[in-house]
Amino acid sequence: MPAFSATTPGKIILLGEHAVVYGQPAIAVPVNDVQARAVVRPEVHREPGSLRLLAPQIELDATHADLPEGHPLRAAISGVMAELDIPHMPACTIHITSTIPIAAGLGSSAAVTAAVIRAVAGFLGQPLPLEKVSSLTHEVEKIHHGTPSGIDNAVVTYNQPIWFEKDKPIRPLSIAQPFTLVIADSGRSAATRETVAAVREAYQAEREHYQALFDNIGTLVQQANTALKAGDIPALGLLMDKNHHLLQDMEVSSPELDRLVNQARMAGALGAKLSGGGRGGNIIALVEENGADKVAKAAQQAGASHTITTTVSAS
Ligand code: PMV
Repeated sequence: MPAFSATTPGKIILLGEHAVVYGQPAIAVPVNDVQARAVVRPEVHREPGSLRLLAPQIELDATHADLPEGHPLRAAISGVMAELDIPHMPACTIHITSTIPIAAGLGSSAAVTAAVIRAVAGFLGQPLPLEKVSSLTHEVEKIHHGTPSGIDNAVVTYNQPIWFEKDKPIRPLSIAQPFTLVIADSGRSAATRETVAAVREAYQAEREHYQALFDNIGTLVQQANTALKAGDIPALGLLMDKNHHLLQDMEVSSPELDRLVNQARMAGALGAKLSGGGRGGNIIALVEENGADKVAKAAQQAGASHTITTTVSAS
């Protein structure tokens, strides 16, 4: 049984986070500049069933059986074994590495899980269809995030820009013009589980107000879809700005994120917003092709710990 490896990208949500949990559409794109990778190697000298997991970045060196019940990696591997009806794994080591910042809204947990699922299934000689990789990853995301909409597992598995609505088949997005984004990390990590829970609490307390915010975000996502189809990048920027205002109103922004957004706009960004769960993590700024360096520098001066410039291709 030869070694098998799988690589998955990070992701950002272009528009629609949080509202997507309440049934509105959202748009997400993969970020291949950062990636998670899982390599499964056979261990011919070890007992069958012996499965070792190595993830040096999170200081993990454990056997599958040692991991507590409910550990996301244990759940990912058990999910594949159950799906393929494999009671015992052949002896192997799974080596996991990732360049995707953790708890930053870049889909790190979904990307690691999807890479492990694909690598284990491939190693067993039974690669799974993408739809199945995505749904198994979604199950594991529930351990990380509580009630994830499913957008992260979908975009990292399919590795293409998507139009996403909860509990509906994903739709690939038509993008007429490539565009460039600067992703700037506030340096503060934030648990999506907590921001999603905070929004739920606020929604329960102020239903009408929050429902209106979700509906307005849904409208912006529809308009962004039209702008992307038409290659109208300045219009996309304005819609991102409006989406950020609605997220501020939803109380998922933070002074750090607002500062990064403002500085990016002042440095020439066509639009900017927080991306992901918020209260930390990243902002994204839409930039003219030759304006990326200036915006990245402005974000760093405004406190960004790290920036990534990425181009989304036409599709
Ligand atoms: O923080 P991230 O990138 O995992 O994004 C979460 C997106 C939310 O809409 C806030 C939650 C979800 O499950 O869709």
